[in-house]
Amino acid sequence: MASRFLLLVPALATAALGSVLDLDIKVRNGYRTIEVDLGTPGGPFDVLYDTGSSTLWVLDSDCTTECINVSGYPRHGYNLTSTGVNLGVNDTNEYTGGSISGYAATDIFTVPNTNVSYRQSFAVITDSTWTALAADGFLGLASSSIAFRNTTAPFEQMMQDGLLDKPRFGIYQGSGVSTMANPNPENNGVFTFGGSHEDTYAEGELQWMEMLSPFEIYKTPLMGLQGHNSSNGQNWSSDVLTLYGNAIFDTGAGSINVPEDQIDDWYALTPLNYSAISSGYRPLCSEFNETWSMSFTLGFYGEGVTFNLTGDQLAVPGYQDDDHCFPPFIPWGSENTIIGQYWLSNFYAAFDFGSFDQESYDIHVGLAPLKKEYLPKA
Ligand SMILES: *[C@@H]1O[C@H](CO)[C@@H](O)[C@H](O)[C@H]1NC(C)=O
Ligand SMILES: *[C@@H]1O[C@H](CO)[C@@H](O)[C@H](O)[C@H]1NC(C)=O
Ligand SMILES: *[C@@H]1O[C@H](CO)[C@@H](O)[C@H](O)[C@H]1NC(C)=O
Ligand SMILES: *[C@@H]1O[C@H](CO)[C@@H](O)[C@H](O)[C@H]1NC(C)=O
Ligand SMILES: *[C@@H]1O[C@H](CO)[C@@H](O)[C@H](O)[C@H]1NC(C)=O
Ligand SMILES: *[C@@H]1O[C@H](CO)[C@@H](O)[C@H](O)[C@H]1NC(C)=O
Ligand SMILES: *[C@@H]1O[C@H](CO)[C@@H](O)[C@H](O)[C@H]1NC(C)=O
Ligand SMILES: *[C@@H]1O[C@H](CO)[C@@H](O)[C@H](O)[C@H]1NC(C)=O
Ligand SMILES: *[C@@H]1O[C@H](CO)[C@@H](O)[C@H](O)[C@H]1NC(C)=O
Ligand SMILES: *[C@@H]1O[C@H](CO)[C@@H](O)[C@H](O)[C@H]1NC(C)=O
Repeated sequence: MASRFLLLVPALATAALGSVLDLDIKVRNGYRTIEVDLGTPGGPFDVLYDTGSSTLWVLDSDCTTECINVSGYPRHGYNLTSTGVNLGVNDTNEYTGGSISGYAATDIFTVPNTNVSYRQSFAVITDSTWTALAADGFLGLASSSIAFRNTTAPFEQMMQDGLLDKPRFGIYQGSGVSTMANPNPENNGVFTFGGSHEDTYAEGELQWMEMLSPFEIYKTPLMGLQGHNSSNGQNWSSDVLTLYGNAIFDTGAGSINVPEDQIDDWYALTPLNYSAISSGYRPLCSEFNETWSMSFTLGFYGEGVTFNLTGDQLAVPGYQDDDHCFPPFIPWGSENTIIGQYWLSNFYAAFDFGSFDQESYDIHVGLAPLKKEYLPKA
């Protein structure tokens, strides 16, 4: 049996204590990545950390015509290394933004600047439609039950191998914001396996939301929305818009995707004119400002928590130029709402499994507003 424990020797020293592993988050053309090492000798791979999927994948070095690269970013491909094993199993994963096909493998995964190194399964991709991806692959953080055949999501593998201090990962996305003028900004984001750093980054306590079972992705009811504005020194609040769908926390997505039949109601809570936007009007970024805000109430009935964002926190510059901002809500044909990285970047986020043991998972996502000095800055 080729046990994954064979190569654990260096990790065991830290495993006894359980580690809190901090990785820097980079920003490139709007893609947010962390660097991991795969193989012996190891190569560094910049992978997009994605709470909306579960597969760790990297591109095969030989994949050229089937893995077109229009990202403007040099990609690092994977060759089976001296410790790599091809499992002889092929599969395909479909995402909203692209699809990948290839084979399952295992090799030694090392977290840079730590002694943590263990055997991890992943997909080596020989066909990808992610042509503009400014990264070497994805690191999926959702359930292994929906991962590429014969692979386990890295966070779950680390938990099973006893490598982590807590059954939790934490994300401070960083203050770097990609714009047309500066697509690759410096960033100070930190991705943490085995713990979370809300004490450093957040204002106040994490507000926790239970996730729906069975666990596949991070999904919880979206109960209601409210719009607020102030004009002539007076504060106004809309009626609460009661909703019945679910929200998915997805760091692999950008904007907020809203069920088609709700889109008019969402925009009606803001000063933005959806009928103009849908016929091509590009909002000025200055229309996203602190004169208005929205409250989002999420979680199970009776335990809902409310998060406020001001108009400026919904601004995403770069809609043809940096003076114009993208529409914050995009209609799509699903009853679920996707909450992407732009909304999430205003918060410290902790994803807690409640247990290292899959049988006892009790998954909650906690969010807390960032301290002012840590907010995203274009
Ligand atoms: C991808 O595109 C970049 C920029 O055009 C280029 O430097 C690189 O060689 C291309 N291919 C790979 C495999 O990185
Ligand atoms: C992978 O192998 C190919 C030859 O098959 C070689 O050209 C390439 O440099 C190798 N890449 C890496 C990252 O080792
Ligand atoms: C892949 O997974 C299937 C189903 O769980 C299992 O039967 C098979 O042995 C696995 N293959 C390898 C190479 O691990
Ligand atoms: C997997 O895909 C490769 C390349 O397309 C092919 O050569 C191989 O036979 C496939 N293996 C299986 C088990 O289908
Ligand atoms: C790695 O292990 C060595 C030897 O135990 C120790 O001196 C070093 O501080 C460790 N490094 C990290 C980053 O944990
Ligand atoms: C309006 O709201 C702001 C911010 O919450 C508050 O500071 C201000 O006192 C309010 N104004 C009135 C007239 O209630
Ligand atoms: C402010 O909110 C009130 C109540 O929802 C609404 O009637 C009004 O149109 C809003 N004003 C602006 C400028 O959005
Ligand atoms: C919104 O935009 C539409 C289409 O551009 C326009 O006809 C309408 O008057 C606008 N509504 C408001 C309230 O400005
Ligand atoms: C603030 O936003 C409102 C609503 O979009 C807009 O009418 C107003 O002109 C903006 N204020 C500034 C100073 O741009
Ligand atoms: C959200 O904003 C509204 C209006 O400004 C305010 O009444 C409410 O207390 C805020 N809620 C939170 C959780 O900050």
